[in-house]
Amino acid sequence: MNQNLTQRVRSSFIEEFSTQPLMVWAPGRINIIGEHTDYNMGFVLPAAIDRGIVLALERSETEECTLVATDVKESVSFKLSGNGYEFVKGWQGYFLGILKELHKSGIKITPFNLLFSGDIPAGAGLSSSAAIENAFIFSLNALFGLELSPMEMVRISHSAEQEYVGVQCGIMDQFASMFGKENHAIFLDCHSLKSELIPLNQHEYEWLLIDTSVKHSLADSAYNQRRKSCEAVALELGTDSLREVTKEKLEQIRTLIPGKDFQKALFVLEENERVIKAVEALRKSDFKSLGRLMYESHQGLQLQYEVSCEELDFLVEITHGQDCVLGSRMMGGGFGGCTLNLIKREDCNSFLKTASNEYEKRFGKAFTSFTVNLSEGCKLIL
Ligand code: GLA
Repeated sequence: MNQNLTQRVRSSFIEEFSTQPLMVWAPGRINIIGEHTDYNMGFVLPAAIDRGIVLALERSETEECTLVATDVKESVSFKLSGNGYEFVKGWQGYFLGILKELHKSGIKITPFNLLFSGDIPAGAGLSSSAAIENAFIFSLNALFGLELSPMEMVRISHSAEQEYVGVQCGIMDQFASMFGKENHAIFLDCHSLKSELIPLNQHEYEWLLIDTSVKHSLADSAYNQRRKSCEAVALELGTDSLREVTKEKLEQIRTLIPGKDFQKALFVLEENERVIKAVEALRKSDFKSLGRLMYESHQGLQLQYEVSCEELDFLVEITHGQDCVLGSRMMGGGFGGCTLNLIKREDCNSFLKTASNEYEKRFGKAFTSFTVNLSEGCKLIL
């Protein structure tokens, strides 16, 4: 967690509202492997990171709530409404989504003021939205003594994202941001919601993120379409989700479904297998095998699931033949965002020099990059 960020949020809040706030940290996440498997009730292996959202909250002395987003220098004031709120796009939507969910569950709160800021690059696919949602519900829970369990808070954040933000996402991001632990990945079964913390001391390796800064405008609709394709295959097999489907069963309906849907469903089954293998590899600190699985995952996302893009493929491609990179793949929903690279720490800078030259030569623009550490999930900042 970034101490400067915490200081900045605390003093900005005091300046704005002249009172000491309750402070909350909610991290972003990486996903080591298990992409597009969460909404198919499969396995994922995410981890919370040391970049996230710091949010300050206190009761309001007036009838109005004021929300301040310092990073975009915007604020909004409104009265809590029994009948819901106008739908708004952008950052305000996350807050109103949570408030609507609380209203639906009959949970009462009184007016509050809040201010937040973060150090997650926007649009990089590191789940800044889940971090904002979690930070908000976590802080409301603490301030108003709502007695929600962490899992209940995850469900509220997830519903807010699905219902009001518009992406039919799975539960991975909100879960990882809530339950992360320093130096651990989370092996999560999205069907049973059982999870296990897997220790991950990567010693001489780093998790390096390279951000293409690309976000294709069709990303959200393409995401929802992928979900529909998978659900259609499951329906064809008379099951609720691909989780219950085996490769043999899928093969039996191969000729009855569009070839592209077959490939997408096959990818999901194979990606689930890769997550299990990745956990086995981590238990043995076998980073070479983990890296190989990451490359396989990328290939599947590129060719079978078709959610990659030129920039991401290029970034993965240029790691081939670089001995210092054990694994590389696109991460998150796709169509832009970051690649996640498992790289030898001592070679990170020299690799980045070569990679950025090649990227600039090819696309005429620079990328940004940063390393992350695996961090704790949502918590009160005392
Ligand atoms: C986005 C969604 C997640 C997950 C990933 C793909 O990050 O928010 O729920 O589906 O894409 O694995």
